[in-house]
Amino acid sequence: MTVRKAVIPVAGFGTRFLPATLSVPKNALPVFDMPSIHFCVEEAARAGIEEIVFIVSKNQEAIPRYFEALPELERALEARGSVSTLDMVRRIGSLAKITCVAQTEQKGLGHAVLMARDAVGDEAFAVFLPDDVIWSERPTIGGMIEAHQRTGGFAVAVKEVADEAVPNLGIVDVGGESGRSPRIVGMVEKPSLEDAPSNLAIIGRYVLGAEIFETLENVEPGALGEVQLTDGIAAHLERPGVFGYRFEGEHHDVGTPLGMLKASIAAALKRDDLGDDLRAWMDGLRTAPRAAGF
Ligand code: G1P
Repeated sequence: MTVRKAVIPVAGFGTRFLPATLSVPKNALPVFDMPSIHFCVEEAARAGIEEIVFIVSKNQEAIPRYFEALPELERALEARGSVSTLDMVRRIGSLAKITCVAQTEQKGLGHAVLMARDAVGDEAFAVFLPDDVIWSERPTIGGMIEAHQRTGGFAVAVKEVADEAVPNLGIVDVGGESGRSPRIVGMVEKPSLEDAPSNLAIIGRYVLGAEIFETLENVEPGALGEVQLTDGIAAHLERPGVFGYRFEGEHHDVGTPLGMLKASIAAALKRDDLGDDLRAWMDGLRTAPRAAGF
């Protein structure tokens, strides 16, 4: 069966991005000229997902508003003959049906996903963590939906990471299996390096069955005292089975200011109209750090 809905938790204070997040929700902050939330919604739409369920907290109206159609702006652009800008605005306004569910308490990622239970209903669904931006020709979630259809199990995106990153992430054990979709035999959230079964980390893309909701109702708080999605998924290793998905493409973690800055620079460098100017300015920075920019 095809996957029609995606859950995207965006609640959270965005403390790493204070003071910007006093006025702008974290995932509305731009990666160069696109709010970071744009990328996963576009990835979902490219994979045929029709409805996005945002899990939001207070003052996050800017996130769903970004995806609303704006007839007035469209008329103004039409009158000006700004064809390509008009196309872009229209496309963003029609990427997906948007639903918002309020998360009043912040008890962890597993709890956030549980909030989507009624909106998702009894069908397999995708989860995106919007701090993980993946640029690739083929949408990562599309490949994961195929893996889910092939195996009948849950799918979790995974990537090899450096030792320093291990204690901040969910880590899986695939028993040394290589290949794109290895079966996961163990998973643990934010282990110490000594306890980690591998360096293969969960990246924020999941395809899950509706049975996860029942499980999440009963998951005890785990790492950081929070209800962890990883712990809920780990209860399904036997049934229906959980499979890793080694994705292709360029991954950026925009959940930290440095990661956000790198992604912004990477996005700008790809632009035909200003990539060369930016590159030249960066070369100048390297050779004359104090003089650059003046
Ligand atoms: C979450 C997940 C973790 C995963 C990570 C990927 O952690 O709990 O398993 O590895 O996202 O970005 P968080 O970043 O919310 O601490």
